[in-house]
Amino acid sequence: MPDRAGTSVTGTPHIAAAPGDFAPLVLMPGDPRRARRIAETFLEDARQVTDVRGILGYTGSHRGVPMSVLASGMGVPSVSIYATELFRHYGVRRIVRVGTAGALPESVAVRDVVIASAAHTDSSLSRILVDGVTLSLAPSYRLLRAAADAAEREKPSSGGAVHIGPVFTSDHFYLDRPALYEALERRGTLAVEMEAAGLYAVACAEGGEALTVLTVSDHLRAGEALTAEDRETCFERALRIAATALLTDV
Ligand code: HPA
Repeated sequence: MPDRAGTSVTGTPHIAAAPGDFAPLVLMPGDPRRARRIAETFLEDARQVTDVRGILGYTGSHRGVPMSVLASGMGVPSVSIYATELFRHYGVRRIVRVGTAGALPESVAVRDVVIASAAHTDSSLSRILVDGVTLSLAPSYRLLRAAADAAEREKPSSGGAVHIGPVFTSDHFYLDRPALYEALERRGTLAVEMEAAGLYAVACAEGGEALTVLTVSDHLRAGEALTAEDRETCFERALRIAATALLTDV
């Protein structure tokens, strides 16, 4: 596969990076521009390692430990491609998704953080991996526990609440089914997003560890939404929790 200089490098169908270009620990936002911003502001000495289809990836370090960031794009098919190639071909051990979500219950507010301890989904991925079984899609307990501890330590300095519970990974952003959202809310679902279940399914299939830390960008009941500027500042807290989880026991 040609690299940015036009020479041939090893790569996968969707990532044009050489073996060793990614650190074992990866932050994964949905948006490529957010990946670049994380590389510029949160990692030290970051260099770009891939840009296939505009999906940007960088490797640098955080608190002295090598760490990468790669965008996932939107939805389960997209995140499952990048997560599979990272775990399978680049020696990646942990991926923490840092994304946004729409809140369901009143108890979860815009700007709050939601750590996804499980992901319900309407994606077929939970059913096609093992014949006759609907897989439970959950994060690594080690990463979840580390994130919960980090959130507890952050409490005094941070404004909004941190919630830990199930989310709904939807295949359709514009789903117009209020009764479905109500049924999920009644069963304890905290928020709606589009990638956590795909990441958890791939981690389980590939023997990797994964977690999802979400910033609530909008409220599906209240109709409230963060401004673009607010999104950037609010995102910081989720990022700190995610990085602390990535670094646990390394
Ligand atoms: N639905 C799905 N994904 C989302 C939403 C939503 O309402 N908000 C942020 N990501």
